[in-house]
Amino acid sequence: MASTEADLLGEINADLPEGVDWKQGAVTYLRELVEEGGETQEWFHLVKPFLGGPDYGPFWVDVFQFLDVVHAAKLAPGDLVIDVGCGPGWTIQWLAKLGHEVVGLDISAELLEVAERRMQTDPYPPYVGKPFRYDLRVHDIEAEPLALKRKARLALFESTLHHFYNPVAALRNTVADLADDGIVAVIEAAAPPKGSEWDVQNVEIMARYHTIERPYTRSQLVDMLELAGLRYVSFLRPVNGLFPQHVDGVSPLVWELTRADNINIFVASPTAAGIERLGLPARTVDDVRSGWTALEGALFVEDRPDASRFRWCGPRVLVRLDGPGPHALELATIGLAPEQAQTVRVVAGGTVGGSVTLTGAQPTATLELSGRPGQLVELHSDRVFSPCWDGGEDPRVLSFTLDEPR
Ligand SMILES: C[S@@+](CC[C@H](N)C(=O)[O-])C[C@H]1O[C@@H](n2cnc3c(N)ncnc32)[C@H](O)[C@@H]1O
Repeated sequence: MASTEADLLGEINADLPEGVDWKQGAVTYLRELVEEGGETQEWFHLVKPFLGGPDYGPFWVDVFQFLDVVHAAKLAPGDLVIDVGCGPGWTIQWLAKLGHEVVGLDISAELLEVAERRMQTDPYPPYVGKPFRYDLRVHDIEAEPLALKRKARLALFESTLHHFYNPVAALRNTVADLADDGIVAVIEAAAPPKGSEWDVQNVEIMARYHTIERPYTRSQLVDMLELAGLRYVSFLRPVNGLFPQHVDGVSPLVWELTRADNINIFVASPTAAGIERLGLPARTVDDVRSGWTALEGALFVEDRPDASRFRWCGPRVLVRLDGPGPHALELATIGLAPEQAQTVRVVAGGTVGGSVTLTGAQPTATLELSGRPGQLVELHSDRVFSPCWDGGEDPRVLSFTLDEPR
């Protein structure tokens, strides 16, 4: 991990154009857009996310991802939500229409005026005779917490976290107003590869509009969560749409769910309870750093008496390295005669990069993997067996076991 906040800020801000007052850039952003593009620019902010109508791809992406996160947050009616960097306020409107109390904060008074107009021109709060419950505050969340009287169940960062020069301060100041089991939810793009078209475009946008457009890698995010006191996290992936009922429709869906790509959607909390309350696995930031995910070929989970868990695998398993590692995979097999051996090879990019051999006398081994986060690695075993070949009832073809990541 970047050992200090200063190290992390040095890393994430290294490519920012120099000599720019980023906070001032955020304050005057809308004004400058309107000066350049006319009043349609303000209109776009008023009608967001409906901008462009239903054929406009980002509408579905923005709305589905936002609603998925709100659904996952399991809010009770009336729960307090902080909308961090709420901008023109479309998320405030939806949250308030769902009956929640919302505090929307933003450094830009002009964007909050748009949010206020949006709310004032909506005649239909959710309950008869009761106005929307919302409060808009001009506030720099990198500078200090809001210090609310009531603590929030959810703090939402919708397309916002990557805009802060110091996201650790923004997160830390937000956590100060969270309930004990409250969560922070982040929805935004992940860092594009350095030098890619999108990366270059982001640098151009920063120089032109003086607002920060620099999404983070997964390991930068994990570092900033730890530094901000958010030790528990669950990275998520939305899948929306309609799918065919026949079985062929399912495999692309499973792949879609497990691949690491250009989205960072996650919930984080200072406590495990905050995440577990949502029915999601709470992984510590350390687990994510050394973690890996079996994407294909790992079958069913079993518990040992000591509560550790392992998974039976077929002869080929596809593993994604989630953090920088090193990753120690614990393998085991059963049923080998003393003189028999079983080799499991590591294949990365089509090349064998290592192996372990299990024997009747030594049926367990540790496989050390390292690589870049997101890298896919295959494990190939040269032996399969099936319980039913020895007279058992289980017809599955198995090969070895893998301990579940902690
Ligand atoms: C891309 S906009 C997202 C707006 C909104 N969440 C949405 O989805 O429409 C990022 C927002 O972060 C706000 N922002 C930037 N720096 C801030 C700071 N230090 N404190 C509070 N808000 C800030 C900007 O003014 C802007 O409204």
